[in-house]
Amino acid sequence: MIRELNEKDILFNNTLRTQDQFIEDLSLGYVYLGYFLGDKLVSFINYIELVDAIEDHFVFTDPKHRNNGYALSLFEHLINNTKKKIIIEVNVNNEAAIALYKKLGFKVLNIREKYYDEDDALVMIKEPDAIILAIETSCDETSVSIIKNGIEELSTVVLSQMDIHKDYGGVVPEIASRNHTENITMVIEECLSQSSLKLDDITDIAVAYGPGLIGALLVGLQAAKTLALALNKPLIPVHHIAGHIYANNLMAPLQFPLIALVVSGGHTELILMEGHYQFKRLGGTLDDAVGEAYDKVARVMGLPYPGGPQIDKLAKSGKDVYSLPTPLDDETYNFSFSGLKSAVINLSNSMKMKKKPINVENLACSFQTRVINILLKKTMMAMNDYKVTNLVLAGGVAANTALRSALTEACEKRNYSLTIPHFKYCTDNAAMIGAAAFYAKKAGKAADLLLNSVSSEELH
Ligand code: KG4
Ligand code: ZN
Repeated sequence: MIRELNEKDILFNNTLRTQDQFIEDLSLGYVYLGYFLGDKLVSFINYIELVDAIEDHFVFTDPKHRNNGYALSLFEHLINNTKKKIIIEVNVNNEAAIALYKKLGFKVLNIREKYYDEDDALVMIKEPDAIILAIETSCDETSVSIIKNGIEELSTVVLSQMDIHKDYGGVVPEIASRNHTENITMVIEECLSQSSLKLDDITDIAVAYGPGLIGALLVGLQAAKTLALALNKPLIPVHHIAGHIYANNLMAPLQFPLIALVVSGGHTELILMEGHYQFKRLGGTLDDAVGEAYDKVARVMGLPYPGGPQIDKLAKSGKDVYSLPTPLDDETYNFSFSGLKSAVINLSNSMKMKKKPINVENLACSFQTRVINILLKKTMMAMNDYKVTNLVLAGGVAANTALRSALTEACEKRNYSLTIPHFKYCTDNAAMIGAAAFYAKKAGKAADLLLNSVSSEELH
């Protein structure tokens, strides 16, 4: 059992604190947290609680009861019961203790020289956990997620409106906004309930403020502002594309420098990152985004919305037999897909006029092959030019099976590391927003209640 000691408790014989010093410490406001086996005290830690931090002073375990993890349990108890950072000092030669603190998530802050007579002390710090509730409503998914420290998903709910918009062949902004409004409260509640957390456990509120459909974004933004105001928590603004990139951080911590290939319904971009939240846009599409081209081509081929997954599926059993143009094959990092899209539309129309049948599998394969070849070529060019060996794939089109295998093969050949989000993190979701928010906050991104949504904005 773990509990705080009081003056009736008797410390075991040890070399650190006498019973008198213990009583004096209590009167000075020091807290002793003890681990008991039955009513026998076997280990304790001693700390003082400051305004913004807890400073730990002693850790001591009865020599007869060492190596049983009692001190570890005491620290875990302390960590789980405070929202403050915890600071400790430890002798640089005490490897076992340093290993224990690292295991608990402590990081080295600095070194105090000759702190213990001849020995230096390491000052280590454990920041409180960031439990971020994130909201994403930029298109047709109402999504809420709770992410711990930018890496651990505690719960995510994604309510897709796809079936509603299918009938219209694409997302109808007004309908999307209305559905977000109807669902957002329920999705927040469901996400909290799945995580077993209370609103009070949330440390920050994050929201995708853009780019996207302005009316749809506003619903998530309003919900996020309301929560931030009511709970008195910081509000973190997250760029939707940063979210897509950080979906990869939920797979494995991002390694820098990296190139991100962002391919979604609204974006096709190559981005260089030299560190967390440092984005340098190398190039992007001059007209249609990849996902947009997929969806428009699919529509002409009579496939349901969203067309990307349909074309992906059909292409698997097709052959690259149709003669289609290669999109913008130059030495820049830019892309252009509208010419290719028009070529598919023209081909399909002229075949219809000539009453000749079109082989949809082959057309899907021919279109997809052109798209993937140019994405691959320009991505590898950027990796080579910037001498970067880490690649991450992001955005809804990252779900494309042919693109995933083409990049996997190319990276294996060159010994590059490649991270691809799990399918569930490729299309819009709030988990990626929560992951990005952790690093956005560290980079100084903060918002107040004047935050507005934007339909387009370059990633920064
Ligand atoms: O990232 P996302 O969910 O929304 C935007 O931010 O745009 O991406 C949606 C896009 C759609 O255009 C959809 O057709 C495309 O991603 N997509 C795919 C696949 N799955 C989704 N495109 C090609 N192949 C897929 N398997
Ligand atoms: Zn997206």
